[in-house]
Amino acid sequence: MKLTTEQKAFVEDLLSRMTLEEKIGQMNQESPSIVGGFDVPFEELIEMMTDGRISQEEFGRIMATATQDFHEEDIRAGRVGSMMVNDPRKNNELQKIAVEESRLGIPLIIGFDVIHGFRSVFPIAIGEACSFDDVLFEETARMAARESRAHGINWNFAPMIDAARDSRWGRVSEGPGEDPCLGSRFARAKVRGLQNDRSSLQSYVAACTKHYVAYGACESGRDYNTTSMSVSNLYNVYLPAFRAAMEEGAATVMAAFNDLNGVPCTVNKWLLRDVLKGEMGLEGFVVSDANAIRECVVHGIAEDERDAGIQAVNAGMDMDMGTHIYKDYLQEAVEKGTVPMAVIDEAVRRILSVKVWLGLFENPYVPEADIEAYEKGLPAEHIALCRKAAEESMVLLKNEGALLPLNRKQKISLVGKLADDRNEVCGAWAMAWKPEDCVSIRTGLEAAGADVRYYPCGGPEGELNEEEIARACEEGDVIVAVVGETDAMSGEASSRADTRLPGRQRELLEKLLDSGKPVVTVLMNGRPLALQWEAEHLPAILEAWHLGIRMGDAVAEALLGDVNPSGKLSSSFPAVTGQCPIYYNHPSTGRPGSKSKFTSRYLDAPWDALYPFGHGLSYTSFDYSELRVSEADDALEIAVHLKNTGERAGTEVVQLYIQDVAASLVRPVKELKDYCRLSLAAGEEREIRFSLPKASLGFYDNEGKYRLEDGLFRIFVGGSSRDVLERELRITFA
Ligand code: BGC
Repeated sequence: MKLTTEQKAFVEDLLSRMTLEEKIGQMNQESPSIVGGFDVPFEELIEMMTDGRISQEEFGRIMATATQDFHEEDIRAGRVGSMMVNDPRKNNELQKIAVEESRLGIPLIIGFDVIHGFRSVFPIAIGEACSFDDVLFEETARMAARESRAHGINWNFAPMIDAARDSRWGRVSEGPGEDPCLGSRFARAKVRGLQNDRSSLQSYVAACTKHYVAYGACESGRDYNTTSMSVSNLYNVYLPAFRAAMEEGAATVMAAFNDLNGVPCTVNKWLLRDVLKGEMGLEGFVVSDANAIRECVVHGIAEDERDAGIQAVNAGMDMDMGTHIYKDYLQEAVEKGTVPMAVIDEAVRRILSVKVWLGLFENPYVPEADIEAYEKGLPAEHIALCRKAAEESMVLLKNEGALLPLNRKQKISLVGKLADDRNEVCGAWAMAWKPEDCVSIRTGLEAAGADVRYYPCGGPEGELNEEEIARACEEGDVIVAVVGETDAMSGEASSRADTRLPGRQRELLEKLLDSGKPVVTVLMNGRPLALQWEAEHLPAILEAWHLGIRMGDAVAEALLGDVNPSGKLSSSFPAVTGQCPIYYNHPSTGRPGSKSKFTSRYLDAPWDALYPFGHGLSYTSFDYSELRVSEADDALEIAVHLKNTGERAGTEVVQLYIQDVAASLVRPVKELKDYCRLSLAAGEEREIRFSLPKASLGFYDNEGKYRLEDGLFRIFVGGSSRDVLERELRITFA
């Protein structure tokens, strides 16, 4: 995000003409409030329904009489800088009030959670990351930006780039997984895709990288829980994706709910001012997460709302999402001198700069033609990209005896409620999909010409239907069981203490296996599941996540072999939940897990992942050989020979890892440093080359300083973090 000299002057001029109230208004974000028909605040109404004081039906009746307040009066008076609405005509109306009826005519920045697509819903991020395809990451973000703009949204609360290593945490679904290198590449590509298409004022939005920071490290995987870690861990694992996003020019950042080492990110001056704005150079602004400023009172870091607001703004929190605390208390705080005017000016300058960079002053409205275009349906190229993203995101975990792919002559018994539910394909944080765009697995298989019969039998919730199970087993040559999680079982506030298949789905699989028929399992879920039993007993497992609107097409193509699976895991899968957090790039211990008793292991579970990061099979096979490493001036030149040894074309993700064998701090057993994705015809062989800058071989110490330390390094290349060729090299950094 770069402003020209004229744009900067425009911002300064505007700032100089604003009253304090107008400035604070820019720092206030509103969502539509639900009003009328009830005597308690809306939040309490929700709580009443959640804790059972009123039934869902009663809640529904009350809501039917409610209306939405879009804060038009406050917008007119210059007391609102941002709104969170996704209705394009409503957004035009609100913009018109801001632009034509407020004193200074400053347009609203309109934010929304467009996490993995708007109406064109792509795979959830943990799934899309399995494609290891930076071009795809960027393309899907570019399409999301255009669709957002066409709906009046100019600010996406994405990408979510929290490194996450504990799959109990429901929000693992929203981000690119456990690895800082993949996470950083994902972050960069998403920022480019959202922000860099400047071909028109309707083709880009401001990115909002979130959640800053270490939210993924919440203790016990319980959402909103405390986090604590060393500075070096923060810098090496949790900050890199944010640093990458800042280098790519990300316009804004959302602070995380959690505290880090005792200070909530919302009021954490070191994180916001020193690291984010200072060291990493954020040019735009920081917004709080929803209601997070108020929560600082509950955190016990602020006595009351006033105190929380003062701490937040002084710490560098530029915009308040949803609490009105800035609106209610900052004027008085500035007048009393507890908040310097310079702090307010800095925040407003940042917010206005993003608005100017977005072109909102020239182009505040969505053209009616764009709105109408989407009302006619999704363009074909959007559907095609959704399908491509879904195809690349599936991971073949297991395929014993080459059970997959199936052929069109086999009679398929398709089992599982999730298989026929097009409302479940999009997963968590998809807010604008339309049922008519969504393809269930059943519809996908039927459309692909498979000989398929469907038996619901059971799902993540509820009972098993024995009679349907018996018929499914009886009538098919092969059973395809679709099991997993509903979309509500991952995402925010959806932590699970037991990450096995929920409900009676394991029992369902047992019964299917008892029939003696081959059982192919398709997983549809939002987190790495604990699959010890499944991995042991089921012959073929395809991880399909929540793949977005074209899920059914993609899964059908993979099952029938029209598409050869190519995804590699972006997160390690545990055997049992008790292994969480589990990740391939853990620091070396003095007693690495082994069969001996006094090593880092469990008595009752394996010590390592069931399916490690980077794992993913194909219908063909790849052979790696001749790993060569040499040292050039500033880089390591790495070459490996790759051959497609199978009988069909396939795509492989070649992964390059390193290990710093001895350093002044304990380093990970392996760290991903680069990867590439390429397709090879049957029998084709190729030399793959990486040039790894020596400057990337360092790490951050506990002062947050980057260190390059001479010594022995191991270089690994292979098709997963576990299955690699290895070389050693002594390196001296000049
Ligand atoms: C979530 C954010 C989201 C925000 C606005 C919060 O609850 O943590 O990720 O962007 O709501 O919807």
